[in-house]
Amino acid sequence: MLKPTKLAKNNFLSSLDLSTNEVLNILELANNLKNKKLNIELNNKVLGLIFDKSSTRTRVSFQIAMTRLGGSTIDLNPSTSQIGRGEPIKDTARVLSRYFDAIAIRTFDHSDLEEYAKWSTIPVINALTDLEHPCQALADFLTIHEEFIDFKNVILTFIGDGNNVANSLILCGALLGVEVRIACPKGYEPNSLVIKKAYEIYKNKDLLKITNDPYNAVSGANVLYTDVWSSMGEENKKAEKDKSFDGFTIDNNLVSKAEKDAIILHCLPAYRSKEITDEVFESNKNRIFEQAENRLHVQQALLSCLLY
Ligand code: CP
Ligand code: NVA
Repeated sequence: MLKPTKLAKNNFLSSLDLSTNEVLNILELANNLKNKKLNIELNNKVLGLIFDKSSTRTRVSFQIAMTRLGGSTIDLNPSTSQIGRGEPIKDTARVLSRYFDAIAIRTFDHSDLEEYAKWSTIPVINALTDLEHPCQALADFLTIHEEFIDFKNVILTFIGDGNNVANSLILCGALLGVEVRIACPKGYEPNSLVIKKAYEIYKNKDLLKITNDPYNAVSGANVLYTDVWSSMGEENKKAEKDKSFDGFTIDNNLVSKAEKDAIILHCLPAYRSKEITDEVFESNKNRIFEQAENRLHVQQALLSCLLY
């Protein structure tokens, strides 16, 4: 019978904290949870949420996932707890480890997340940092799997900023053997260490391509994916980034260069007429909102493996 399996690593800070088999197991669990073929009980476990940045999907999907598992969450607002007044992470982490069963953290510097993990004795989950968004990548690959079943024949083209979402797609894509192409303006390429690690995993080095040409990148692609041009924390760079990303909008013209049955994904929130036109968004809304729903199912599966 399908059941959660204990993960080799205690934390989920990066897509690379999972093995290929662990990702596949989480996707299968998520699919079964989604289709109500599986029920998992965690007996009153409590997940702490520390969000230094805004969130709709990640926060709520973690809350609902814990409720469905028979557990609960406590949302620690950094500005009304001592976190916002500068209590050292190493103290916060050691105290919270005595209350919670796991903590999900959304913050800026990835090194702060690693500092929490270093001092915590409970699992720490990356709910987005400037470097990675690994929970999002799990939901994205569940959505892709629902459409194409076999990852081996899929070409995924990400058009946009090579930061957190793109970095996790690259790493999770490498684990699953999916061809990933990133099209971004010069200077916005994905993290070089992420690219290096992905090349180490891919058996076929041709499966990862970084380019500054969106038209070239979408040719033959089955999945087109985009994210906001200005991420949280980059509000003051909006004008400069809008200029740099001119020509990187997913519009009907770009979509027409991809495979006929290509699907469009977006991690959300979406900004129309920037990274995607309203027309393309609305004609692909069902799958984009399915992708958002899948956040809940993969996180429920992930939590069940981390806490079982
Ligand atoms: N995609 C995503 O992480 O959404 P939120 O910022 O709303 O959590
Ligand atoms: N790159 C975006 C993702 C939002 C889910 C950001 O960091 O704001």
